[in-house]
Amino acid sequence: MPIGQIVGGEYGEVLIRQKSGETIEIGDLLSIEDVILQILDLEYGSLLEQNDIERMSGMELEGYEETSLMEEEIRNYIYAKAKPLVRIKDGKARIPKVLPSFFGNLERVSQEDFDFLEEPENSLYLGKVRSGSQVLNVPIHINGKEALSHHIMIPATTGRGKSNLVKVMLWHLIPKEYAGLLVIDPHDEYYGRNEVGAKDHPEAGKKVDYYSTNPPAGGYQLRINLSILKPWNLQGIVELSEAQSQALYVYYSQHGKNWLEALLTSDQEEADMHGVRETTLDALKRKLKLTFDLSVKTGEVRARGNIFVNQGSESLVKDIVDAIEEGKKVILDTSSMPENKELLIAGIITDRIFKNYKDYKEKGELEEKPTVGIVIEEAPRVLGDRAGRNVFHQIAREGRKFRVGLVAITQLSSMIPREILANMNTKIILGNEMKSERDAIIGSAAQDLSKDSKNIASLDKGEAIVSSIFTKFAVPIKIDLFEDMVEEERGEDKKLEFFG
Ligand SMILES: Nc1ncnc2c1ncn2[C@@H]1O[C@H](COP(=O)(O)OP(=O)(O)OP(=O)(O)O)[C@@H](O)[C@H]1O
Ligand SMILES: [Mg+2]
Repeated sequence: MPIGQIVGGEYGEVLIRQKSGETIEIGDLLSIEDVILQILDLEYGSLLEQNDIERMSGMELEGYEETSLMEEEIRNYIYAKAKPLVRIKDGKARIPKVLPSFFGNLERVSQEDFDFLEEPENSLYLGKVRSGSQVLNVPIHINGKEALSHHIMIPATTGRGKSNLVKVMLWHLIPKEYAGLLVIDPHDEYYGRNEVGAKDHPEAGKKVDYYSTNPPAGGYQLRINLSILKPWNLQGIVELSEAQSQALYVYYSQHGKNWLEALLTSDQEEADMHGVRETTLDALKRKLKLTFDLSVKTGEVRARGNIFVNQGSESLVKDIVDAIEEGKKVILDTSSMPENKELLIAGIITDRIFKNYKDYKEKGELEEKPTVGIVIEEAPRVLGDRAGRNVFHQIAREGRKFRVGLVAITQLSSMIPREILANMNTKIILGNEMKSERDAIIGSAAQDLSKDSKNIASLDKGEAIVSSIFTKFAVPIKIDLFEDMVEEERGEDKKLEFFG
């Protein structure tokens, strides 16, 4: 059944007249011949002059008898503007380079229209194809191994479903050996301490490690031994002047892994030998003590907090990194610590992973290793201009060469430098009512989304557009609600048990 007809337009903006009685929505997918089009905008159309329309409206409103010139449904209608999204030729998706027939009839897409989609290797499930707000039973997968190493960005206004999407992705990645994940979780929402979460996955016992400052049974204590700390871990996380930063490196070169203790207990005599001024040393000591919760008494450094310690947990970073390199998913609950500690810990672990992977590449061992994804919330904290050069910046710039990628979650894409945005080769775009944010996303997307601003603005919770160098076109999807998805999977397992 046709729901509209092509009556004009140009490439990239085809004009469609909506059939009366039908409803076309922004974001709807329509098919004609071998092309699928997506609706971008709606407008009123009429065969009458504006003057006549207004006169007739006046007469009707003011109670005069209506003067009908033609059949209402022929006279007035709705125009839809659409862009060709994808062309299917010989069973394969192509970028459409032709216009569908003038006066051609359009139909709503159906499941069969997507028979050309194939599940890629190392697949990662994201959601189902969506036409407007209607969901089709067509699952969308991307190549997770490739997508993760080329960075995934999840931009959206608050409450549109970013965390839910990460839960869904994490769940499907748990059994997959092709990727290890480090999930930095400042809201403690992914493991599912008190609700459904990663811990409920049938393979969680073997594949998920959970670290927390207050771990439940089965979790690990999140605690960092100070001897693991290197001066560059502070870069872009603790604000340091040039002189302070230099002083760190001087003490590091003199004292190796005991540099922090040496610096905190250093007298001015030693500082003078290293060319470090008194004010610099004092300020630095104060900052370091504050950042790491340390005190110095009678020439001894003592840990006062429970996150950075000078005894025990020496192997924590190594344990985490080893697990990730085995393809495990490691979740760090950082909910009870201040931001700078969260980012320090995230940075220390990430730095170790990145160094290892650079090594593997050099030794030609990279191919045997799983890809690593690092999930970070409010990514502008570490990727924004103000953050300076830190390990996350480095990964965003060159991580894909070493198969280490970011999953960057953000409400504020515009705070991330353009070149980094452009390096995020898969964007799963959820709803966003801020035009400046949409512009930043659109300007760096893998497909031309220049006309999709309204489309993105009108996305409801869990509705997304996947724009990726690993998809032939920008795919509109609906992400499953995590809790429902888990419930459904459990139901299916039960059925299998029953009949199996
Ligand atoms: N795919 C979905 N389908 C249906 N409802 C959803 C979906 N995703 C999210 N929601 C609803 O929206 C609520 C907020 O989602 P979520 O916490 O994932 O948003 P968020 O983008 O992470 O927000 P914040 O910026 O506050 O972290 C959820 O509690 C859920 O009720
Ligand atoms: Mg969230």
